[in-house]
Amino acid sequence: MKIPETLIQKYNIPVPRYTSYPPANFFYEEFGASDYIKAIETSNSEWPENISLYIHIPYCSKMCHFCGCNTQFTRDKDKMRRYTEAVKKEILMVKALLDPGRKVSQVHWGGGTPNTLPIELIHGIMDTIRKNFSFTSNPEIAIECHPAMLDENYTEQLVLAGFNRFSLGIQDFKQEVLDNVNRNAPKVPVKEIVGWIRSYPDTSVNLDFIYGLPFQNKETFTETIEKAVEISPDRLVTFSYAHVPWIKKAQKILEVKGLPEANEKLDMFEAGYDILTKNGYSPIGLDHFARNTDELSIAYKNRKLHRNFQGYCTRETTGQVYALGSTGISQLESVYAQNEKNPDKYVELINKGEFTVEKGYRLNVNEKIIRHVITEIMCNEYVSFDETANKFNTSPNEIVKVLNYTPELFKGFIEDGLLQAPGEGIFKVTPTGRFFIRNIAAHFDPNLISSTKKFSKAL
Ligand SMILES: C[S@@+](CC[C@H](N)C(=O)[O-])C[C@H]1O[C@@H](n2cnc3c(N)ncnc32)[C@H](O)[C@@H]1O
Ligand code: SF4
Repeated sequence: MKIPETLIQKYNIPVPRYTSYPPANFFYEEFGASDYIKAIETSNSEWPENISLYIHIPYCSKMCHFCGCNTQFTRDKDKMRRYTEAVKKEILMVKALLDPGRKVSQVHWGGGTPNTLPIELIHGIMDTIRKNFSFTSNPEIAIECHPAMLDENYTEQLVLAGFNRFSLGIQDFKQEVLDNVNRNAPKVPVKEIVGWIRSYPDTSVNLDFIYGLPFQNKETFTETIEKAVEISPDRLVTFSYAHVPWIKKAQKILEVKGLPEANEKLDMFEAGYDILTKNGYSPIGLDHFARNTDELSIAYKNRKLHRNFQGYCTRETTGQVYALGSTGISQLESVYAQNEKNPDKYVELINKGEFTVEKGYRLNVNEKIIRHVITEIMCNEYVSFDETANKFNTSPNEIVKVLNYTPELFKGFIEDGLLQAPGEGIFKVTPTGRFFIRNIAAHFDPNLISSTKKFSKAL
């Protein structure tokens, strides 16, 4: 796979990542706790019926300079305990508003670094969830872990706590790359850590990598991904490094060390893509890869792939997301609601019995249509105006009116070989188009035209 330089020049512009529609920087502060309470009650009669719980742990014991996540440095165990006590209280507050007949299909722990917590604090939250909710038959219980902080005993305890999906942030296998972004390497080979996890039945492993960091180039990234293939994870992500120094000041340090150019980044991505696709992995969306036999690959082939802030999921596992913890974003059918970002303030408000929502967004029907089209493009690389009209009980003409769409506007993508239009109102992203999927999605978005928001670049 080789992307022509002309396409890179043309399409490497700032565009949203569309982990949500509208993106989180469109949320407004007038949306507060009372709106969230009403939204939870309304969500009981909305689709999907299942519940996803997202637990945010905003702590890391060392800060990586590239990090774009909502987290802070701490090693203070008391602080962590106070925080997890607040999360347990918030679980009970949310539960009181939920229909008891609804089941949990997904629990996702993210951060920050959930495995900075002493294991008993993790058990405490999982016990609270189990006591208060019933689960679907095969729930996904996932945790993002920093491999440098995992040992065999902690891993076993995570399995005992109920986790069956482990995502390890590897980023790169090269010591020089890790040293220059202030990140510790794992103390034992990643293969061994994956072996511990795999020794328990029904577990699955994802590995995260980033390309676009100082001291990375096509050769080093090729070696890193070849090593990843030897470990044979079920899933793997190659994130394009998102450089947003106007939000994350520490990223400026990387500018001094020397960031690869867009074409070098693309070389790395292409090299990784080629290795993975030749070794039994299907590309999913922009940057995810799953073994051809993995349920994500199967869902993608059947156009049943879905996505939330926590990543890709199948339609069966996706529930409306209720976020717990500071900065967590709840993703209900009609509403997004983001919790207070400051963990200390979050704890203070929860201890007063208050929800901590600091901003949110209520979607109208037109925005749900745009969200559907963008999600279809981002996940299934396909959209049909007819099928969208059926879903929303309207006509294809009405769908077109809601979108930023005229045949003229999309001609460029078709001529550049990024998009195919195999029928009236049907669009399919080509293999080359996958690299520019955010540009294609953004083109359907009428709200982006008038927006002055800042985004990271497409590549
Ligand atoms: C919450 S972290 C994963 C768990 C743990 N904190 C760790 O780093 O291993 C989520 C992932 O986001 C990715 N990430 C963080 N900052 C990023 C950035 N600026 N651009 C792209 N990906 C980023 C990393 O690959 C990281 O593994
Ligand atoms: S990448 Fe992970 S470990 Fe590093 S600072 Fe961000 S959240 Fe923490």
